[in-house]
Amino acid sequence: MLCRILSVSSLLLTAATAWNTDVHNQIGFMAETFLTPSTTSVLQHVLGPQYSGSIGRAADWADAYAHTAEGSFSYQWHWIDSADEPPTSCNLCYDRDCSKGGCVVSAIANQTEILRDCIADVKHGILTDGSNITCSYALKWLTHFVGDVSQPLHASGTAAGGNLFNVTFNNISTELHAVWDGYIIYRDAGLSQFSHQSISPFMSSLVSRIKADDFSQPTAEWLACIDPATPRKCALSWARESNRWTCDYVYNQTYNDTDLATSGYAEGAYPIVELQISKAALRLATLLNRLVASGCKTGHEVVLQTNHNRQDSPKEADDVFT
Ligand SMILES: *[C@@H]1O[C@H](CO)[C@@H](O)[C@H](O)[C@H]1NC(C)=O
Ligand SMILES: *[C@@H]1O[C@H](CO)[C@@H](O)[C@H](O)[C@H]1NC(C)=O
Ligand SMILES: *[C@@H]1O[C@H](CO)[C@@H](O)[C@H](O)[C@H]1NC(C)=O
Ligand SMILES: *[C@@H]1O[C@H](CO)[C@@H](O)[C@H](O)[C@H]1NC(C)=O
Ligand SMILES: *[C@@H]1O[C@H](CO)[C@@H](O)[C@H](O)[C@H]1NC(C)=O
Ligand SMILES: *[C@@H]1O[C@H](CO)[C@@H](O)[C@H](O)[C@H]1NC(C)=O
Repeated sequence: MLCRILSVSSLLLTAATAWNTDVHNQIGFMAETFLTPSTTSVLQHVLGPQYSGSIGRAADWADAYAHTAEGSFSYQWHWIDSADEPPTSCNLCYDRDCSKGGCVVSAIANQTEILRDCIADVKHGILTDGSNITCSYALKWLTHFVGDVSQPLHASGTAAGGNLFNVTFNNISTELHAVWDGYIIYRDAGLSQFSHQSISPFMSSLVSRIKADDFSQPTAEWLACIDPATPRKCALSWARESNRWTCDYVYNQTYNDTDLATSGYAEGAYPIVELQISKAALRLATLLNRLVASGCKTGHEVVLQTNHNRQDSPKEADDVFT
């Protein structure tokens, strides 16, 4: 019951529903840099000509669609409301927390299944130039939702995903969800928004760091669960990671009477937001590459280095990508 009440209150608060749209575009552009040529060419047919083969440009469609009468059923697919109590306890259970009508975890699973058939249709020459709308929607949703599930407050039911948690950021009265959707990453990048059309230098530098295995968690570990055959299980594991941050950082601070932009909260959140965005991009690309390869061993999908300076010596990237 609690989940449903929180979902309804989330529904009423349409201002902040996702990483901001430009951040979604950027996650898509980052993912594009990891796609194989064959994935890129197959996806171009799924997507249709208006996007020029760019999942980045298509990545924000799902927000606009959710706010139309026709697409309102998909609004709740952008998050999963955990019934936990951060920072004291954090947990996410599919049966308890995924609302009737769907959540971000079920939506990733569903659209992955649909996209698998679409990719087969492209390979058989049945689907070209975005002619099947179910398929173009599936790719646009998947691109968007793999981004959403990485935002900590899209995997947390507390205060309707933070929408009801008032805070101050840079002398603006806002709420915590909006802070995580946009304010933190904008401040980190030193700008007021990203391009909707092409990858920004800030995001390019994250791509370089992914390739150099230069994050607090080894990149190989991000890919522990990317299996087109078990999309629900993997999406749930990604949601649980996001949910975990609500205990480990998002709600584990004192905010009242402080401005989150200048109190140290934003600075402390930069590495978390950078990590989560980077994970989303690499996971999305890897999932799409694997869907297109559909079991074929195609060798290296992307060029990743393993950082041998790490203390925690991750698995070789080769093991992960073949
Ligand atoms: C909050 O974070 C601090 C250090 O950052 C840690 O000592 C503390 O255990 C955390 N509290 C919870 C509830 O996770
Ligand atoms: C799966 O997606 C299709 C179309 O995209 C939609 O009609 C259906 O309701 C979805 N099912 C679930 C369980 O999300
Ligand atoms: C579009 O693709 C979906 C998923 O592969 C398929 O079920 C559907 O029949 C296709 N529609 C048309 C008109 O071909
Ligand atoms: C949060 O801010 C909104 C809008 O400014 C206001 O209506 C609401 O009462 C505030 N909530 C709390 C708990 O202070
Ligand atoms: C913060 O906003 C208040 C009210 O809008 C204003 O009076 C104050 O000068 C602002 N402070 C800064 C540092 O911008
Ligand atoms: C700020 O939060 C602390 C602990 O959460 C609480 O004890 C205190 O009363 C709050 N102060 C205000 C002004 O709300």
